[in-house]
Amino acid sequence: MISHSIKSLLEKQPIGDSVQINGWVRAFRSNRFIALNDGSTLHNLQCVIDFENFDESLLKKITVGSALKVSGTFAESLGKGQSVEIQVNDIFVHGTADAEAYPIQPKKHSLEFLREKAHLRIRTNTFSAVMRIRSALSFAIHDYFQKNGFFYMHTPIITGSDAEGAGEMFRVSTLNAKKPPLDDRGAVNYQEDFFGKETNLTVSGQLEAETYAMGLGKVYTFGPTFRAENSNTSRHLAEFWMIEPEMAFYELDDNMDLAEDFIKYTIRYVMDHCHEDLNFLEKRLLDEEKTKPQNERSDMALIEKLRFVTDNDFKRITYTEAIDILRNSKPNKKKKFKFPINEWGADLQSEHERFLVEKHFKCPVILFDYPAKIKAFYMRLNEDGKTVRAMDVLFPGIGEIAGGSQREERLDVLLEKIKELEIDEKELWWYLDLRRFGTAVHSGFGLGLERLVLFVTGMGNIRDAIPYPRTPQNAEF
Ligand code: 4AD
Ligand code: MG
Repeated sequence: MISHSIKSLLEKQPIGDSVQINGWVRAFRSNRFIALNDGSTLHNLQCVIDFENFDESLLKKITVGSALKVSGTFAESLGKGQSVEIQVNDIFVHGTADAEAYPIQPKKHSLEFLREKAHLRIRTNTFSAVMRIRSALSFAIHDYFQKNGFFYMHTPIITGSDAEGAGEMFRVSTLNAKKPPLDDRGAVNYQEDFFGKETNLTVSGQLEAETYAMGLGKVYTFGPTFRAENSNTSRHLAEFWMIEPEMAFYELDDNMDLAEDFIKYTIRYVMDHCHEDLNFLEKRLLDEEKTKPQNERSDMALIEKLRFVTDNDFKRITYTEAIDILRNSKPNKKKKFKFPINEWGADLQSEHERFLVEKHFKCPVILFDYPAKIKAFYMRLNEDGKTVRAMDVLFPGIGEIAGGSQREERLDVLLEKIKELEIDEKELWWYLDLRRFGTAVHSGFGLGLERLVLFVTGMGNIRDAIPYPRTPQNAEF
């Protein structure tokens, strides 16, 4: 007999049919009621056994966490709590679970505890819901770009250029760490390393994506990204997944339109396809919020918050306007910001971004035209000579969810900037070639998948938005 997924059985409701399912025991009550879950849906399927028909030795193996194959009749259930069940004829125990040692018991576990059991936490409702949504979001991302004429390109994971400057990098090397070869001056001789030069894990696929946009027109990358920053926050990972579209002939306004439309599409996709998981996570969040002081609670439930984002325009303001708002804001005047805003040019911290989004505008905000000094070398300089065509998309509860810019397409301006920042021009020869051979206006941005997952699922810590988080001092699993 072919096994069914619980999801398909609950959809088809084949009352009276013989069916077979596989799954893991979530609970076993009164030697009679097995709650089985197979990961296809949030719902368990109740499997009812007549224990007189089964050996006691078999019943003993049916512990929480064990894996079973169950066959029987799919029937309406008279019991409370479920409308259908399987009246079991046969059970095969794939593998039992030591009841004493199995950490995922049918009770509430803290997220911190579950992080230490990341290999088993996927068997909880919370993590299965989050990871099904992560999967749906990933699909929606490809779906959006494929429907809109973008080509998916794979940018290298190992890079030989460190010019992006987006963050600290992880070195990739096969040299003997204890006794590396040295050059005449006593420095490590990377010419003897695997690639004959210093190489690192990528912090962004942008520069390579730009080269492909200048041939394919519209491209996107979607891959793992690495940053060795020592920032132990609930918003930073050392390994995360970034989506980076890059478009020839797009100006900053087009870039903002795309970012807004793209983000809304992916959120709408999850709202249309993941009702049950979202409803579950909404309830989870409500319960969690009850433990917080009143003034820290969100005034919107999860799905309402998602709908608010998909149904309203993002507010677009310049950095200069934002600085005026922040400088005159209550928390700034009352010295409540950790980093007070005094003058134009200051880099915005997450506390400022969240003030603008959560308190001032109460909606997603796109900030643009930042001071050149606080942004990357490749951003297009404005006519004022001091701001660049940068944009950051700021979300409630998250802060920056995406960042990008129109790129500097003028060779002379770019060369000057590179000189000013003392970047090695030779390293960027191929990037500069784009400005020599058929240069054109172009733009792009990067969105961190885990930050989007955080927003959509209402989870509070980025470590719970990726299967196996990599953070400072932590690379277990
Ligand atoms: O703002 P970032 O550093 O931008 C870039 O890397 C550009 N090259 C993107 C581009 O224009 N193509 O990173 C982009 C996004 C951030 O907005 C954030 O969502 C996410 O990547 N991000 C992180 N997510 C998790 N952990 C980290 N350490 C992150 N750093 C950035
Ligand atoms: Mg950024």
